[in-house]
Amino acid sequence: MKAWLSRDPGPADTMELVEIDAPQPAAGELQVAVSAVSLNYPDALMLEDLYQTKPPRPFVPGTEFSGTVTALGEGVTSFNLGDRVVCIANGGLGETTVCKAAMAVKLPDAVPFDVGATLMMTYGTNIHALLDRVHLKAGETMLVLGAGGGIGMAAVELGKALGARVVAAVSSPEKRDAVLAIGADEYVIYPRGDLDKAASRELANQFKAACPKGYDVIYDPVGGDYAEPAIRSIGWEGRYAVIGFTAGIPKMPLNLTLLKCCQVIGVFWGAWAMLNQDKYREEMQLIFDFVAEGKLKPLISENFAFEDAPKALARMRGRGAVGKLVVTVAD
Ligand SMILES: NC(=O)c1ccc[n+]([C@@H]2O[C@H](COP(=O)([O-])OP(=O)(O)OC[C@H]3O[C@@H](n4cnc5c(N)ncnc54)[C@H](OP(=O)(O)O)[C@@H]3O)[C@@H](O)[C@H]2O)c1
Repeated sequence: MKAWLSRDPGPADTMELVEIDAPQPAAGELQVAVSAVSLNYPDALMLEDLYQTKPPRPFVPGTEFSGTVTALGEGVTSFNLGDRVVCIANGGLGETTVCKAAMAVKLPDAVPFDVGATLMMTYGTNIHALLDRVHLKAGETMLVLGAGGGIGMAAVELGKALGARVVAAVSSPEKRDAVLAIGADEYVIYPRGDLDKAASRELANQFKAACPKGYDVIYDPVGGDYAEPAIRSIGWEGRYAVIGFTAGIPKMPLNLTLLKCCQVIGVFWGAWAMLNQDKYREEMQLIFDFVAEGKLKPLISENFAFEDAPKALARMRGRGAVGKLVVTVAD
């Protein structure tokens, strides 16, 4: 089978397109003929050995995919050959891969493979973060940073589906248009470069202007210089969700948490899902229900051919993705 392989740490163009044997499922695993892969920022970080999980090399990247079950490992009873599934595991950028049956979810027939491939990492992280970690309630106001990316857009959509008022913060007019189109109530455009003290204060003022009473929830997949102005705009007893660090890992003066009596809450969906498999399945079902009801419509801004996977990963790493980027592995 054809697969993209990472032999050494480096950017996307270090991947090689190779011919290798299809992996066989071990006990408890499924073998899947991959249809589509949706890219997530951790895919780019993993290639460079910058992610918290470091797969042994060589490995086939692509952690979120959809496809069809082609073989069952010993002891797997909950799936059948031919089932349409979505799953989180490495190996999506290969024509065939294997994954833990416990982490796979059957994809409803009505959901196409490309859409299915976008439903797990971003929506799964968000629904867990919003329901189990920050307990977002209808009527509350949430600020979403990096709102035009995969995780950010899903947070905007889910926030709206859960009845919140959502302020979406992005770095460009193009991303602003995308978040307004999916229902964000208001927006803030922030600068792209490093923020000095004055720029940080100015951004805090922009965040505050969009919610003068202070945010109930701040959803932060970005970090870096954006975190401090964001927390300065949080409301009394607000909840600050730490999701990711595309702009770098921030250092935060802890007195800011005392001044607002706020909580800073870490979210690590993948690890949580492994430890809470029943709840994970329940939440994935809720996402499929929202998709069926039309409350969630993932924006796939670009669909790349299998051969162009490095180009797609470089686009994401370079801050150029709007919504989701998908690579088609087989039609
Ligand atoms: N906690 C969890 O369980 C969990 C699960 C999945 C993903 N994540 C994390 O969530 C974050 C977002 O992932 P994603 O897949 O949504 O990525 P994405 O689609 O590339 O979106 C990331 C957004 O970050 C913003 N950004 C700010 N500074 C950036 C920079 N220097 N380089 C690139 N982007 C920058 C960009 O928006 P602007 O240009 O508008 O600023 C971009 O849209 C990642 O850190 C990822 O590791 C966490």
